[in-house]
Amino acid sequence: MATATRQEARLRPDRLLFYCRPGFEADLAAEVTERAGSLGWSGEAEAFSLAGCVDFRVDAAQPANELHRQLRLADLVFARQSLVGLPPLPLSREDRLTPIIEQVVASGWSFEAIRHETPDTNEGKALAGLIKALTRPLESLLKKRGALRRKAGGRWLHLFWRDGDRVQLGMSFPGNRSELPGGIRRLKFPQSAPSRSTLKLEEAWHEFVPRDAWSERLAEGMQAADLGAAPGGWTWQLVQRGMHVFAIDNGPMDEGLMATGLVEHLREDGFVWEPPYRLDWLVCDIVDKPARVTAMMERWLVRRWCREAVFNLKLPMKRRWETVSRCLSGLAEALDDAGIRATIRCRHLYHDREEVTVHVRLLD
Ligand SMILES: C[S@@+](CC[C@H](N)C(=O)[O-])C[C@H]1O[C@@H](n2cnc3c(N)ncnc32)[C@H](O)[C@@H]1O
Repeated sequence: MATATRQEARLRPDRLLFYCRPGFEADLAAEVTERAGSLGWSGEAEAFSLAGCVDFRVDAAQPANELHRQLRLADLVFARQSLVGLPPLPLSREDRLTPIIEQVVASGWSFEAIRHETPDTNEGKALAGLIKALTRPLESLLKKRGALRRKAGGRWLHLFWRDGDRVQLGMSFPGNRSELPGGIRRLKFPQSAPSRSTLKLEEAWHEFVPRDAWSERLAEGMQAADLGAAPGGWTWQLVQRGMHVFAIDNGPMDEGLMATGLVEHLREDGFVWEPPYRLDWLVCDIVDKPARVTAMMERWLVRRWCREAVFNLKLPMKRRWETVSRCLSGLAEALDDAGIRATIRCRHLYHDREEVTVHVRLLD
């Protein structure tokens, strides 16, 4: 009886908390609302401008954990992190710790690690001192209350600090979260690469190609094309892996890259150029309308001119999710109609700005 009463009194997580690049909250809110809806869930997404997060409060009596399991982070475009969340906590400067401890205890949560995170903004970075001061005392109090444990199914507690007076608690689960702080993959810029854009392709590979498959799928001697290649940041990545590259662009390519002997520079239109034979990789970073780029990719894939493709869709418009969703479903439909089996994934990467990165892999 006592147990039942304790369980009833528990604070049930009623929402999901997602992180995103500040400025993309409305896009993530639209995406999550639509995706949850297609799984039969309704709820209300709250997107605070530039907060770098979206809070999706679930209407149903079912626990939010169930929706979290169904809505895979890997399938979302604009989310950097996905958590089961508790209601945001307003804090007073005199005692920030007590309300946090009370909420954790009321939720009955246990976890193996604690992650403090903030929006990826200057205001967020300014919270580093406060977070540092709170980290140790919070850990020790949560250990004492039995919430922070050596073994707890790999679960982590996340504290998302919107500012010094507001924190939101969330829980992440292995297999459906980003293991990276804030869901951000920071990469070091390689000094010999001709442009910073190079990091977009490197990050795409980390995101879409499992590390243990790199030697097979990103292998020396493979053949690739880079549409809109100049000055050569993406080509540089392909060359680093030992691939031969057709670099298609009217603009000039980096001289050092050309000196490798692995690059053939063709001053042609990427939208009409056709490869002389089937390639392993097609990459494309041309700035053009997303629908036009997608149509070109569709042509390549339907004709099986490459096995895998990475391309960016530039999104200078307001309703980015609508545009992305239309392009992705059109592409999936076209491949399906042509009887081509493929995996299609799309993510807003850390090194992407007003754009998203799509990866397609043909399966036969
Ligand atoms: C964003 S830049 C690419 C940067 C490159 N990925 C890098 O890492 O250095 C876009 C390039 O697309 C090229 N471009 C635009 N329209 C093109 C087309 N129709 N065919 C080929 N290249 C095109 C531009 O000349 C420009 O160099």
